[in-house]
Amino acid sequence: MTPPLKGLLIGCGFFSRNHLHAWTNVEGAAITAVCDLDADRARACSEDFNIATWHTDASIMASGKFDFVDICTTMDTHEALVAQAVSAGLSIIVQKPLAEDIITCRRIEANARAKNVRVMVHENFRFQKIFRRLRAILDSGEIGETTFASLSWRNDIDVYSNQPYLLNTERFMIMDVGIHMLDLAQFLMGDADTVNCLNQSVKQGLAGEDAATIMLHHTNAATTVIDISYATIRRPSSFPQTLGVVEGREGTIQILEGEILRVHTDKTVRDEVIEDDKRDWTSAPWTQIQDSIPRIQQHFIDCLKSTNPFETSVRESLKTYALAEAAYESAAMSQLVNIQNLEEDGGR
Ligand SMILES: NC(=O)c1ccc[n+]([C@@H]2O[C@H](COP(=O)([O-])OP(=O)(O)OC[C@H]3O[C@@H](n4cnc5c(N)ncnc54)[C@H](O)[C@@H]3O)[C@@H](O)[C@H]2O)c1
Repeated sequence: MTPPLKGLLIGCGFFSRNHLHAWTNVEGAAITAVCDLDADRARACSEDFNIATWHTDASIMASGKFDFVDICTTMDTHEALVAQAVSAGLSIIVQKPLAEDIITCRRIEANARAKNVRVMVHENFRFQKIFRRLRAILDSGEIGETTFASLSWRNDIDVYSNQPYLLNTERFMIMDVGIHMLDLAQFLMGDADTVNCLNQSVKQGLAGEDAATIMLHHTNAATTVIDISYATIRRPSSFPQTLGVVEGREGTIQILEGEILRVHTDKTVRDEVIEDDKRDWTSAPWTQIQDSIPRIQQHFIDCLKSTNPFETSVRESLKTYALAEAAYESAAMSQLVNIQNLEEDGGR
């Protein structure tokens, strides 16, 4: 049996605990050290997850002790940390959002490509069980060619207590939640080429937008409407579910509360209830999000071992970040924006 790949996790903050629990469920890999600028956080993760060593300086990446790095820090730090990992020759999985703007994303991708280092973006929503199942139904041809989708994420979870940096993030909602929806839209409906977007700041005192409505045109002429808000009061809250619909020429699939896919064809309708994985470390309401993390990490490790491409490689993700950039441009200029050239070097 080949020994497990050895990983270093960088960034021992709020979300890292989900990563560390999830890594214990992944076959073929183990986190052997953690790192945070804040020694108390690094030590706490090392103790709580029984990880032998902790560090406060990310240059430990160059020690030759690791095969890969899991970067779980905020987006402002990603370019420098990914560049350090690339220099150290480590394979990389880095949390979303990859970076605040498409130019930085392109620099990150070009640097990794030049050194032939594999980088995957931790874009976990498409790894939720409900979206794997939805993709499989689409692949089966049951509802025919897709023509329309809506993806809706609206709740008022107090995201600011766990992630206070979001209060001061100028590109907030589209980068935090919109990026998941833009990835899902392409996962389910294929590549998109134009974007229309309206942004709103509903809660007072935020640096950025906390709601947005985005309309995508896909290259196969389908349309996706995305609506996202952290200022929607509904009880019970639908957090953290993405709701919506996918329509095809021969049927429709509704994505309903309670993790239900309702599949309509001309003569039939059926419900598929998507069960969670019943892991001992997950808890409501986060369960479906948490369950997606071992799945994306396993995909990363399986691809490293097989040389299969990452679904959300940094190269593939440029499409998604080009859509996000186009959404901000569209909102600023009140017009439809074509993403042509945005994901390529030399684009605007
Ligand atoms: N995919 C999801 O479902 C999901 C959910 C929540 C958060 N996130 C993402 O996870 C990332 C981390 O979020 P968080 O809320 O845990 O952030 P956080 O601020 O709580 O933690 C980040 C940690 O990184 C450390 N850090 C920063 N720069 C460092 C460096 N150079 N070397 C070592 N340590 C460094 C900080 O000290 C901090 O402890 C963000 O990009 C966020 O958007 C993703």
